[in-house]
Amino acid sequence: MRPASLTIDLNHLVENYHLLQQQAGKAAIMAVVKANAYGHGLLPIAQALYQCGCRSFAVTDATEGIQLRQTTALDASIILFSGIDNIDDAKVCVQHQLSPVCVHSTQLAMLQKADFKGSVWLKVDTGMNRLGAEGLALLISEVEQAKFQLAGIMSHLACADTPEHPLNLQQIKRFKQIQQDTLAPAYSLLNSAGLIAFPSNIPTDIVRPGLALYGIEPITDQPLGLKPIAELGSQIIQIRNIKQGESVSYNGTWVAPYDMRIAIVAMGYADGLPRLLSNQGHAWHPLGALPIVGRVCMDYCMLAVEDANIKQGDKVVFFGSQDNQPRANQVAAQCQTIAYELFTHLSERLHRTYIGEA
Ligand SMILES: Cc1ncc(COP(=O)(O)O)c(C=O)c1O
Repeated sequence: MRPASLTIDLNHLVENYHLLQQQAGKAAIMAVVKANAYGHGLLPIAQALYQCGCRSFAVTDATEGIQLRQTTALDASIILFSGIDNIDDAKVCVQHQLSPVCVHSTQLAMLQKADFKGSVWLKVDTGMNRLGAEGLALLISEVEQAKFQLAGIMSHLACADTPEHPLNLQQIKRFKQIQQDTLAPAYSLLNSAGLIAFPSNIPTDIVRPGLALYGIEPITDQPLGLKPIAELGSQIIQIRNIKQGESVSYNGTWVAPYDMRIAIVAMGYADGLPRLLSNQGHAWHPLGALPIVGRVCMDYCMLAVEDANIKQGDKVVFFGSQDNQPRANQVAAQCQTIAYELFTHLSERLHRTYIGEA
């Protein structure tokens, strides 16, 4: 088995959950576990959260909903953020007791056709200009006529991780107006960043953190004390001696300035290590940070090694939770992206190991 691995600390996950629950006050948490729990592994993450009291989970679609329901008791709500796209999805909602988020009448009609009797969320757009119901009052009445349960009304902030952005207050104002104009059992607006930036601004019954559960601070200058749960690591599988002037990896983009040693590590872009780290990223070894030299390959990357004590078989880490290790959001920033993308690009083939009590 290749040593490329993702190690996930479930204790950290549970600590993050409790911290977020504290921050949420009386509001319940809908844990966002879509896209394979942001790459961390849907089932172990959802099971750990269920064990510490979470009873509401958001996934993307019916396919993820089926996977989750197969190992989750029926007292947990499973919400499909992307709703349903066809009658088969509607049937899956009936069969597995899933709650779709709906934005138009066609979805409600498909659910009726499938003889759905469960609950639906309605999503309104308050300024993000992504999915959102047009004619909310009509949709609410259609939900009532169809005798579905209305679980609640949700909207999504576009700029919560930039709290000073004026769109936040506009969205909050519009959402509050919707709360006044409608009668729903629950209202939900806040994602991780919203929960940290605007916890008391909005009377909200359910909050929807994703990123924060996985231990990334959504607003860097307002840290909550979250602990990263994932460590991306591998092993040095060979040490090579190269001569001054020799190039390393595809296209010869890096040339050895003197006779030196390089370490070949089993971690490449097919594992989820961004190719943009070529010639600019680092791997962390207990003896220090080792620069990635040359292009990151599909299955390998190469590191410059100065310390004679570094040897074949040693472990290196690309991001993690220990004090001296970089955070996933820092690595993402180096690649002009965000931790969400870095996490969701972590490959299926990475060996995922779960540690901790949960
Ligand atoms: C509708 C909705 N709510 C909540 C979330 C969770 O967001 P975050 O991971 O920033 O907490 C997402 C994530 O994309 C989302 O699409």
